Amino acid sequence: MRQPLVAGNWKMNGSKAFVAELLMGIKASSGGIQATELAVCAPFPYLYLLEELLAGTPIRYGAQDVAFENDGAFTGQVSVKMLKDFGCHYVIIGHSERRQFNAETDAMIARKYAQAIANELTPILCVGESLTERQQGQTEAIVARHLDAVIELNGVDALAKGVIAYEPVWAIGTGLTATPEQAQEVHAFLRTRIAAHSQPVASQVRILYGGSMKSNNALELIMQPDIDGGLIGGASLKADEFLAICQAG
Ligand code: G3H
Repeated sequence: MRQPLVAGNWKMNGSKAFVAELLMGIKASSGGIQATELAVCAPFPYLYLLEELLAGTPIRYGAQDVAFENDGAFTGQVSVKMLKDFGCHYVIIGHSERRQFNAETDAMIARKYAQAIANELTPILCVGESLTERQQGQTEAIVARHLDAVIELNGVDALAKGVIAYEPVWAIGTGLTATPEQAQEVHAFLRTRIAAHSQPVASQVRILYGGSMKSNNALELIMQPDIDGGLIGGASLKADEFLAICQAG
């Protein structure tokens, strides 16, 4: 039985005051949500606030990216050890916005995954196709490539130490959510592909859906057999909306 996970990805949003208010809102009303694991992934400068304000709660937190080396001459980078120093449990790896705007390659993402699991930080590996790729019938080939790069470097057992998020790029921030059937089809494809290496890992790994998931569509998505929760962008910036999605989980 896989425990649902609903994780917020705040992306490049917030301020000290905004983060404090949002966390207070989430904390105030999350007490009744027990079946679903809650997490939030914040910009680096606010991690100290999460450490402070989420202490003593079951809400986990993390960052949105990490370096693929542990220390040294990598100007502007933040290491896994630093994230651990601030109490992070999760780190998002390979988000499509980083693949697109920061030219992250499958090889770099596989190395980041390796750093995370070597230091007991749980990676949330994002995979997903663009609209053109979907229209060209390449969805499975693209998500397979994203997944295989991590398996090739880290081995399939490493997947059991992380979480996967299927995020169709065309659904991110667009209001165009994948239908439950479209999402389920890709989730099932990913799980079957993992099962070809290891059935126990395939049964265990949580695969989240991300892409315009909101309170009014979360339930039908999360009810799909291979969808184990959500990675939430815009809707995670409002406590009520985020918690309503968590309730669906
Ligand atoms: O990581 C989260 C995804 O990019 C989804 O973002 O919920 O704003 O579409 P969104």
